[in-house]
Amino acid sequence: MIIDEIISCRNHFESDISTVNSLKDLENLRIKFLSKNGLLAKLLEQLKSIPKDQKPVVGKELNVLKNFIESTFNSKKESLEINDEQKEFIDLSLPARNFSIGSKHIINQALDEIKAIFKGLGFSVKEGPELESDFNNFEALNFPSNHPARDMQDTFFINQKFLLRTHTSPVQIRIMLDQKPPVRAIMPGRVFRNEAVNSRSHCQFHQIEGLYVDTDVTFAELKGTLVAFAKEFYGNSLKYKFRSSFFPFTEPSAEMDITCFICKGNGCRVCKNSGWLEILGCGMVDPNVFASVGYDSEKYSGYAFGMGIERIAMLRYGITDIRILFENDIRFLKQF
Ligand code: DAH
Repeated sequence: MIIDEIISCRNHFESDISTVNSLKDLENLRIKFLSKNGLLAKLLEQLKSIPKDQKPVVGKELNVLKNFIESTFNSKKESLEINDEQKEFIDLSLPARNFSIGSKHIINQALDEIKAIFKGLGFSVKEGPELESDFNNFEALNFPSNHPARDMQDTFFINQKFLLRTHTSPVQIRIMLDQKPPVRAIMPGRVFRNEAVNSRSHCQFHQIEGLYVDTDVTFAELKGTLVAFAKEFYGNSLKYKFRSSFFPFTEPSAEMDITCFICKGNGCRVCKNSGWLEILGCGMVDPNVFASVGYDSEKYSGYAFGMGIERIAMLRYGITDIRILFENDIRFLKQF
């Protein structure tokens, strides 16, 4: 009899739902009783084949059962969901988790500081490509082809005409070909040399180039600018000296030394006991360079300088192996 089945279905449902403890159990229960092929649907299906006179009674009983199952199911669901939410309770008294965030590489830190100082002195910042022409990297900078001065820099050639720039000086050429004086810019960037990689040299490193061209630019201004920079970067009490040197693109040329800021000039391993550290090369722009960019060297004069960034960062932090700057070892980078 269908009425018996209705009663048994109700009992069955009651006993099942009394054991439900999770939303997952409840879902299984829903499938068993309330889904399209569930027990309730099967009973409702039978209603079709019931004699007409019994239909109102059976229909009513089925309706009661349906309402009972649905409302019991819904209230069980609600109470399980509340429980679940409580499980996700956030304990605000717990200590916060540590997130490790990145930091600026020390090369970029040094670059940023140097840029800021020169910006304060009226220099703009320009960049050039790492792949350069032989003309910009050598020829226009007064390194004639086959000239021994080219051996100062071991070069990665791409072909006869192109190479990986060996210094940032070619950006000077790009700027001067592009604009008329006055020019006052610094040019940071990566450079490449075909050198064996060891603790002191690498096949890639960074430089900052500087160029100032105008009427009546003097060597005294060059010194004044570089001293102002060095005092700001290394500290006011530093001592410095300019030694004469040679670069094909400057005449006269010099190198700037400062007192070793590790031993304060007393002599240590880093300054090889001399008390001095070389920090940059500089000089007055050679008239041949002006000629190659179409500047009139009778009318204009200028100075240029260039410095390596790795060396500066390594000296500053007492790093003795340049390779570590390019390895991206997070344990090393995290320290700065
Ligand atoms: N380009 C030189 C180098 O890589 C550095 C340099 C020296 C740049 C003197 C200059 C300069 O502009 O005047 O060794």
